[in-house]
Amino acid sequence: MTIKLGLVGTGTVGGGCIDILQKHKEDFKRHYGIDVELARVCSRDPKQAEAHGVSDLFTLDYHDIVNDPDIDIVIELIGGTTVARDVVVSALEAGKNVVTANKALMATHGEEVMHLAEKMNREIAFEASVGGGIPIIDPLKHSLISNEITSVMGIVNGTTNYMLTRMVDDNLSYDEALKEAQERGFAEADPTADVDGFDAAAKIAILASIAFNSRVTLDDVHTEGIRNITTLDLDTADDMGYVIKLLAIAHRTPDGIDVRVHPTMLPKAHQLATVNGVFNAIYVTGDAVGETMFFGEGAGAGPAASAVMGDVLEVARHLTLGVSPIVGCTCTDNLPILPVED
Ligand code: HSE
Repeated sequence: MTIKLGLVGTGTVGGGCIDILQKHKEDFKRHYGIDVELARVCSRDPKQAEAHGVSDLFTLDYHDIVNDPDIDIVIELIGGTTVARDVVVSALEAGKNVVTANKALMATHGEEVMHLAEKMNREIAFEASVGGGIPIIDPLKHSLISNEITSVMGIVNGTTNYMLTRMVDDNLSYDEALKEAQERGFAEADPTADVDGFDAAAKIAILASIAFNSRVTLDDVHTEGIRNITTLDLDTADDMGYVIKLLAIAHRTPDGIDVRVHPTMLPKAHQLATVNGVFNAIYVTGDAVGETMFFGEGAGAGPAASAVMGDVLEVARHLTLGVSPIVGCTCTDNLPILPVED
């Protein structure tokens, strides 16, 4: 059985997925019995498809993918919440399974699209929406499910962590550090989402929703970015024995869930203080497991594509084996979410 894939978006992450498929497609078949085939590719830029040698699969119109009866899994990698939402909703309505890396979409319309997937008896998987290549959504949904999670805290934006590291280590200005992060393909198309903390806010909203079996959206997250951090702040913190990191924090309080993103001074000996460059790290504390930390590259073509393709192969495995979709959006015990502070 060949599982046909339709890819919408051929930028950094989409290109990374095509590369993985070209390199390992035969291994997936030989080692795991999963036969996947890239059937169609949609992009705004035909040159991107050409650069990856898939011009023969190219279309400018994503409807050619969502309306193609042969396509089993739609991979949405265009980002944003307008066209991307339409791609995801129409794919699910057409009976396709969906894999997405879209944190903004999942942090704002997550409940809607997960319910739609459940109604259509299809899967929507979104491991790549948080932490780049780090497996974190799957562990929270499965391996740690027997815990009462007390907190999820970490560095979840590679661009700002890269910038802060370069500003400290090599005395780069804020603008120079941002330019480098953009050139290396870490930053969002509009990097204000990174530097103003909204990318991290979307990610912690997704993690908090899963960890606390609740519905946390972007609007519930107190958000402050790194725009006002100067090299003087970083140097002063350094003199005092601290580093400044953009932390995303969600923790259970007696009154409800507190969710926030802001620059935080961490003692240099703290494990998160040693996470530098594009690396992300997420601490999860649960009543049974105690403290765990997940670490890895949080942005870039390879790490993000690794997470996307992990989801694609898992959904393809379910389709190959005829396993019913594994859904988990039924939320019966919504914890209160503390209001955002001014
Ligand atoms: N712009 C994001 C980051 C990409 O820097 O972490 C991965 O989500």
